[in-house]
Amino acid sequence: MEIALTYNLKEKDETKPPDYFSEFDSLETVDAIASALRKKGHTVDTVDINREDAISYFKKNKNRLDIVFNIAEGCNTKFRESEIPAVLDYLGIPYTGSNTFSLALAINKAFTKKILKAEGIPTPAFQVFTTATEELNPNLRFPLIVKPNREGSAKGIGASNVVKDKDSLFKKVRELLEMYRQEVLVEEFIDGKELTVGILENGKTTILPILEIDFSNCLKSGEYFYSWRMKEYQGNAELGLVPDFYCPARLDKDTEMQVKSVALKTHQALGCFDISRTDIRLSKDNVPYVLEINPLPGLNPKESNFPMMAYAVGMRYDELIEAILTSALERYNHRRL
Ligand SMILES: Nc1ncnc2c1ncn2[C@@H]1O[C@H](COP(=O)(O)OP(=O)(O)O)[C@@H](O)[C@H]1O
Ligand SMILES: [Mg+2]
Repeated sequence: MEIALTYNLKEKDETKPPDYFSEFDSLETVDAIASALRKKGHTVDTVDINREDAISYFKKNKNRLDIVFNIAEGCNTKFRESEIPAVLDYLGIPYTGSNTFSLALAINKAFTKKILKAEGIPTPAFQVFTTATEELNPNLRFPLIVKPNREGSAKGIGASNVVKDKDSLFKKVRELLEMYRQEVLVEEFIDGKELTVGILENGKTTILPILEIDFSNCLKSGEYFYSWRMKEYQGNAELGLVPDFYCPARLDKDTEMQVKSVALKTHQALGCFDISRTDIRLSKDNVPYVLEINPLPGLNPKESNFPMMAYAVGMRYDELIEAILTSALERYNHRRL
């Protein structure tokens, strides 16, 4: 197969905010995917959409390419993860992973939550702020967590985003509106286990073993959930950012089934394809609250959550990459809806 691998490469640029590149991919990830594909005999062009004129590249190569392996996060619009798929749809080039519509939807946490609610999938109660002058819905119960509505990698999220009163809430809302120039999502903070569930369509729909992330050994760092610092410096013992990973998660059978079923429903409700990772907080009374779904989960072979879950079923990294590719090809070959 002739494949183009599309991505945004992480860069070093001191003039940008420290989290500017957090959503982007490291060279290690790009190399790992490219070499997994090459190992299977495919020809791979690597296309960094930050540096290359992707549109010209696609126009020039559209007849040669069989498929695009897409992990590009995009950068310019409200719908950034759907930017490359939208171009590929327009040009009629097949690509791996979720389609333009699902990616645009999933990047918007508030819209995703409206769909979850309509489908009866538990998600924390919430309110969206587009200014800091709106009234707080009196039904929301503190502590609340304040997040940018359309980011990932926990950008803009740290321990101070969990607020216990209105003053700190509106201070944080103002800060995030100013910094991220997008609506701010405020939701009830769910005290409980952090879980994430991977779904992979490798011939059939496989729900991978649930990954539990335990932050109890990180308390000295001041961070106690999957914050930006926790993700960015994961494993840094000096900073005390050393979460413990359990895969499968430490859950009883009933809860495990319930969590998996909620993740599968979320994947289907959003119309995701090939791969997704759903982030869940399990409340103390055992309700699996869906926080969000990631149709472009990180694929770093050493650090990312999704590969950890694939390794737990004995899958190798190149098998994971091949499964994503095969699932996409099957969909196109069979003209699946
Ligand atoms: N409502 C919530 N209750 C408890 N923890 C939350 C909540 N929302 C976010 N978090 C914490 O912040 C992390 C990042 O939030 P998430 O909504 O998944 O955004 P991102 O897209 O940046 O990953 C979560 O993995 C979790 O640790
Ligand atoms: Mg998340």
